[in-house]
Amino acid sequence: MFNKNRLNPEDTFIESEPRANVEKLTLPMLVKGRDSKSIQDAKTDEKPSLSILGLGYVGAVSTACFSDRGHDVIGVDPDEEKVATLNLGESPIVEEGLGDLLLKGVKKGNLKAISDTVVAVKQTDVTFVSVGTPTDADGVCQLGYLKTASEQIGEALRSKDGYHLIVYRSTVPPKTTRDIMIPILEKLSGKQSGKDFGVCFNPEFLRESTAIKDFYSPPKTVIGAIDERSGAYAAKLYEGIEGELIQTSIEAAEFVKYIDNTWHALKVAFGNEVGRLCQSTGVDGHDVMDIFVKDTKLNLSPYYLKPGFAFGGSCLPKDTRGITHMAEQQGIDIPLINNIIASNDQHIAHALKLVKKANVNRVGIVGMTFKPGTDDLRESPSVELMQRLHECGHELTYYDPNVNPERMLRAGLSMDLSHSGCLDIFLLIRKTDLLIVTHKSADARRIARFAKQHIPVIDLVGLDDDLKGTDNYQGICW
Ligand SMILES: NC(=O)c1ccc[n+]([C@@H]2O[C@H](COP(=O)([O-])OP(=O)(O)OC[C@H]3O[C@@H](n4cnc5c(N)ncnc54)[C@H](O)[C@@H]3O)[C@@H](O)[C@H]2O)c1
Repeated sequence: MFNKNRLNPEDTFIESEPRANVEKLTLPMLVKGRDSKSIQDAKTDEKPSLSILGLGYVGAVSTACFSDRGHDVIGVDPDEEKVATLNLGESPIVEEGLGDLLLKGVKKGNLKAISDTVVAVKQTDVTFVSVGTPTDADGVCQLGYLKTASEQIGEALRSKDGYHLIVYRSTVPPKTTRDIMIPILEKLSGKQSGKDFGVCFNPEFLRESTAIKDFYSPPKTVIGAIDERSGAYAAKLYEGIEGELIQTSIEAAEFVKYIDNTWHALKVAFGNEVGRLCQSTGVDGHDVMDIFVKDTKLNLSPYYLKPGFAFGGSCLPKDTRGITHMAEQQGIDIPLINNIIASNDQHIAHALKLVKKANVNRVGIVGMTFKPGTDDLRESPSVELMQRLHECGHELTYYDPNVNPERMLRAGLSMDLSHSGCLDIFLLIRKTDLLIVTHKSADARRIARFAKQHIPVIDLVGLDDDLKGTDNYQGICW
């Protein structure tokens, strides 16, 4: 069972500015009059100073934009050429508006670049990490640069007084920050995360070529934090930035970046497969997709996107098969669409595996039709699951007020379940060793909550968040 790492409610929320850094800002290019003053002396409304590790596409843009927002920023990169370029107020990459912002920062004196991470970390309040995390040919994320950066930060923290916040921004697989980077920071610094320093994961959603605009107007700002103090501190850095700010676990913040990019890739591939298919049938693919994208109720919406059970019913399987057949006839290869039915089938197989794991004989199913509120059994994934359970020798009892046994026989099911219906919840639970819920309805919710006091419940539809992680409860993929 997956237990989400939740923010510890006992952690104190600290609203004031972080404890000040006692190091002096001795760097020559920082704001005039401030370079001889320690941050501790600074006014309470002064913005935290930032070190930004990695001056590539992400780091250079953050360096420019945060300095534009009034922070003292030290950009850090081992590449001396990038450092020199930035210090001239020039952009190391092609990106509209970036050169202007960098020059503005350098002239104003609140932006500079150096190559020494330890010096930069010691002279600032917050460190952003945006070094490269390329994947190898097999897709394994290379963490070498990130580990080195974390070692350097840890080393700096060893001799730095006061609270420091580290904000990881490089794309990494979930758990990398907590399981690999935080232990490095703690080992090298000899300090404790959550007490001596804070840690966040804050994915970057900028698109190259519109990166400055995206910084000020991102689709969202996501902050995964080890504790409330870290999350609140990081959130303050984004005050006034457009869009929703979402506080979550470090792991969800790490993962959502991969999911976003995979979704974007999926959209491109889907649009292109539709285009190839349309072209082969003489239909204008742009016309079709122009209509498609106008539907923000079902097509471009959260609908159908949350993890749950397999699709079924009279339309989705039939028409997906239909389009696969059309492509075959036209000699068009559409591997993405062709594999949808196989993916759906795998999801039913996954549900079956969960039942097998429970090692029980008598199984109850709440919801037999493909969704609640209908008596349609056509291609219902619940029926398919029941069929597979039946073939494995399980004794089945189902609860579905909309299904009548006669209709079930007419639906041509190869198993005889005409005497297996039960609308008495007490009896249903007495007759079963495990309950599967396939409907998201008030009825199903009530039954699941009662049943889990007595027998294990497998939830295929995501009934209620508060059930997650409780006794006798198992979600299909959460
Ligand atoms: N490029 C994008 O549009 C984009 C968008 C969102 C997220 N990301 C992610 O952000 C991260 C950075 O991407 P990028 O495109 O800016 O990478 P990049 O390769 O352009 O830049 C990385 C920089 O890090 C520097 N570096 C390496 N080790 C360092 C260290 N120890 N200290 C300081 N600097 C160090 C390198 O010299 C390089 O200049 C990656 O994880 C990437 O997946 C990129």
